[in-house]
Amino acid sequence: MENRSTFATRMGGIAAAVGSAVGFGNIWRFPYITGQDGGAAFLLIYVFSVLLLGIPLMVSEFVIGRSAHSNIVTSFKKVAPGTKWHWVGILSLLVAILILGFYVVLSGWTLRYTYLAAINSMEGDDFGAFVSSPIEPLLWTIAAIVINAGILLGGVQKGIERASNIMMPVLAVILLLLVINSCFQPGFSEGMSYLFVPDWSKVTGQVWIDALGQAFFSLSCAMGILIAYGSYLGDNTKVGKTACTVAGLDTIIAIMAGIVIFPACFSFGIEPEQGSSLVFVTLPRVFLQMPGGYILGVLFFLLITLAGITSCMSIFEVPVSYLQEEWKMSRKTAVLCSSIWALGLGVVCSLSLGLLGDVTLWGDNIFDFLDHLTSRYMMPICALLISLFVGWWLDKEIIQDTITNWQNDSGWYLRPLLWIMRVFAPICIFIIFLSGLGLI
Ligand code: PHE
Repeated sequence: MENRSTFATRMGGIAAAVGSAVGFGNIWRFPYITGQDGGAAFLLIYVFSVLLLGIPLMVSEFVIGRSAHSNIVTSFKKVAPGTKWHWVGILSLLVAILILGFYVVLSGWTLRYTYLAAINSMEGDDFGAFVSSPIEPLLWTIAAIVINAGILLGGVQKGIERASNIMMPVLAVILLLLVINSCFQPGFSEGMSYLFVPDWSKVTGQVWIDALGQAFFSLSCAMGILIAYGSYLGDNTKVGKTACTVAGLDTIIAIMAGIVIFPACFSFGIEPEQGSSLVFVTLPRVFLQMPGGYILGVLFFLLITLAGITSCMSIFEVPVSYLQEEWKMSRKTAVLCSSIWALGLGVVCSLSLGLLGDVTLWGDNIFDFLDHLTSRYMMPICALLISLFVGWWLDKEIIQDTITNWQNDSGWYLRPLLWIMRVFAPICIFIIFLSGLGLI
């Protein structure tokens, strides 16, 4: 285990972490809550949340993984031997494998739409009929799993790092092209105002809670990913700088997605607050009506496909590294077992939108139930426990050594980090949790 792989370069580690961070959360959720919650006013609150909650949580997870050089569960066993803290690892692992179940289905949808756009058959497509049909979404889910498994089989450097190094720059170029196209749309200035003009009257307590929740979801905190990826960061990587770079790029990409989506909506008189149907139903139609619509549609779906795959593989890596190290499986077997799990849960999730639609848990179909269970309950609990662990329990020397690269760099932020994890983060996360329960 001591000869464990690491990312070959600092850039590779950043590309992988940004790949995980940039997902559906950036492309549709962020723009739409920004518009709804007061434009630039929300943006400022969001940036504040990233700085004060997202980055410290990210650094904390990196510290746990990197100091232990292990998977999510073993890491806790190593940094807190003889305690029950590894249960936080097990809980995070559970979050990861539950999210995996519906994320592979979503990734499958993006593959299908990229294909439809590529063969120019978007016209007349019925999204509702597709997602509720029994077989077709499953075939696309299998395709998404095969792609992910193929990448993961390559290992950390030749799989995850190489794929991220290729996919993330492509994603950035596509996004840039779409942003440039957006500048020429008739609804550009209206879209920009929606996104950027601050409307402080919309800022309520709920807006703060939305911003905090979005900050840690978007940075992939509390699902074990950052602990897993942190364990692969090379020895001379600066943890704090890496976290800031990842958070900065994630935020810039989310804002760029807003610049693509809103002008398109306003140019064609479309409500921007429609949730996932905006991405799969409305926007494709909008692109088709623009000059160069075919190519724009293909680029847009390629963009979300890449965002989906790089996030999906990061969540896949959580069980894979766990099975490899704790259950002593070969990487191949670990990838195979995780894929079988993803397929099994994926089938249930996908069917829950059609055939199994009548099966509900606390009023939700299985797909929505897993989404709500993980994002409203399990992730805040994990995040809360991780912040208390790092703030109050973890040996300060371990934190100091990890953030200063064993006393080679400055670790000026150790004290602020500790106080954030001790007091500020637990309070904020607790409030997010209560809000998820509908109690505030
Ligand atoms: N950060 C991702 C997003 O913004 C969240 C995520 C990552 C979800 C990995 C699942 C898997 O969408």
